[in-house]
Amino acid sequence: MKRVRKAVFPVAGLGTRFLPATKAVPKEMLTVVDRPVIQYVVDEAKEAGIEHFIFVTGRNKTVIEDHFDVQFELYNTLAQRGKDDQLAKLQQLQPTPGQTSYTRQQVPLGLGHAVWCARDLVGDEPFALLLPDMIMQSDRGCLKDMVELYARTANNIIAVQECDPAEAHKYGIVGKGRDAHTGFEITGMVEKPKQGTAPSNLYINGRYILQPEIFSILEKQERGAGNEIQLTDAMLKLADSQAFYGYHFKGRTFDCGSPEGFVEANVAFALWRSDMRPRLADTIEQLVEESKSR
Ligand code: G1P
Repeated sequence: MKRVRKAVFPVAGLGTRFLPATKAVPKEMLTVVDRPVIQYVVDEAKEAGIEHFIFVTGRNKTVIEDHFDVQFELYNTLAQRGKDDQLAKLQQLQPTPGQTSYTRQQVPLGLGHAVWCARDLVGDEPFALLLPDMIMQSDRGCLKDMVELYARTANNIIAVQECDPAEAHKYGIVGKGRDAHTGFEITGMVEKPKQGTAPSNLYINGRYILQPEIFSILEKQERGAGNEIQLTDAMLKLADSQAFYGYHFKGRTFDCGSPEGFVEANVAFALWRSDMRPRLADTIEQLVEESKSR
């Protein structure tokens, strides 16, 4: 069985739900507490043992590459000023030389197309896929648990969570079969089902482990929901010849592609910080009270 060594991060999206904030700044670089959104997702991949980070970028996204590069001037200045803690923190987050790759999705044809753009960088091995809009809060990373499930099943794994049935049309939804290992067998998948037609309320929350055979399917995949090349449609085809397991993630997922999800993520991650919690919790309570009379 081949290990999961590589992870793909599709970061080409325009972030239109976030204008004007994302006019010049990529949505992946917006800050949750004190780290850009993309850093949370890369850290989750690192925790799961990923060794190579592949970014599918687009125009105006070069600052993501800068973020993961060495910043000599900054590092030297911090060293000269004796700010060793801050320097150590930055260096600890720093990928080592050769650990990152970047390719561009030249045309916005959808998630399936973005993933296909990474085919040569991934090669003939299983890979993790992390959608950077979605950041997770839990004691153990979602992908870490998925890698463990993968070690038992050696197949394709999709992480899911329950959603309000009224929201199912916004996501990819899976059908649930028998429990197996620490997950369950996936019996079907549909991307953005019409209201009332979803096979369950288990939505795909943005974490996948996929076999490389997905690339040859994506190459021929026709456009689906939203007139885009959909990854879910290609996975459904791959499911004809390979097993797919669901991993039911029990932590919290924040959709940072939407302003509400982004604000919730900021509050949630700040409340997990012992240096911020006491003051913030008091302020939030007061603000909630005050807002009732508005
Ligand atoms: C994508 C996937 C969808 C998944 C969602 C999670 O949709 O196609 O299956 O549920 O991400 O955020 P998008 O958000 O790109 O429309």
